[in-house]
Amino acid sequence: MPDTTEPTPEPPASSPAEADGFDRARLSLDDPDSIWVISNKLRPLNPIDYTPGDLRMPNDVPNNNGQPLREAAATATEQLAAAAAAEGLQVRVLSAFRDYAYQVSLYDGYIARDGQAAADTYSARPGHSEHQTGLVVDFDDGGGCALQECFESTPAGAWLAEHGHEYGFVLRYPREKEHVTGFMYEPWHFRYVGVELATQLRESGIATLEEFFGLPDAGDYAPAGSPAGE
Ligand code: DAL
Ligand code: ZN
Repeated sequence: MPDTTEPTPEPPASSPAEADGFDRARLSLDDPDSIWVISNKLRPLNPIDYTPGDLRMPNDVPNNNGQPLREAAATATEQLAAAAAAEGLQVRVLSAFRDYAYQVSLYDGYIARDGQAAADTYSARPGHSEHQTGLVVDFDDGGGCALQECFESTPAGAWLAEHGHEYGFVLRYPREKEHVTGFMYEPWHFRYVGVELATQLRESGIATLEEFFGLPDAGDYAPAGSPAGE
C-alpha cells in the first residue's frame, strides 16, 4: 500500500534576530534611494557615484558646512533639533551629504596625513560612505568634543544616543563593533533609517544594521580583484 502521508513541511529557517515579526524585506537594503540602504566596506553604493535626487537644506538648524540632506532626513533633523532645543540642548549639523568627489578629496587627505591603514579605520572610501546617501548627520553641540569620543558624554551626545531613534536615527558605528561595521566608534554619526526601523533596532538591543539584517561582518574591504571588491 502506497504511503500517502504528506511530508511535514519544514518550518522556515529563522534566526533569533528574526523572531520579532519585523518585516526585514519591506524595503531594499541595496537600492541607494531606499532609506534602509546599507553601505559598508563590503557594500559599495550602486552606482558608486550615486547622488540623491531629493536633497535640501534642513531649516533652522546650525549647519557648519552647509551640507544638505535627503528630504526625509532633513525633516527628521529639524524635528530632532527642535526637541533637543526644548530640552535646552543645542545640536548642530557638522557634516551631512557629501558627494563622491568630495569624499575622494577627504579620504585622500586623510591618507596623506595618517596613511591608508589608519584612514580606513575612520574614513570611508568614496562610494562606501553613508554620507553619500544623504541620510547621515554628524552632530555636534559646540562644546569642544566635535568628532571626538568625548561627544558621547556631552549633554547633547547623551541625549542623541537616548532619543535619536524617536526621530528615525541610529548610532551607526557603536563602540566595540569595528569588526562588524568597519569603523571605529563614532558617537556623533547618526544614520536616518526611519522611526520604525530605528525603534525596532533599539528595542531589539541589536547594535548594528549588519547584525539586525544578518549581513556579513564588514570589518575590512574585500581584497582587490575579488568579486565583492570595488
Ligand atoms: N566617518 C565615516 C565612516 C565616513 O567616512 O563615512
Ligand atoms: Zn559621519
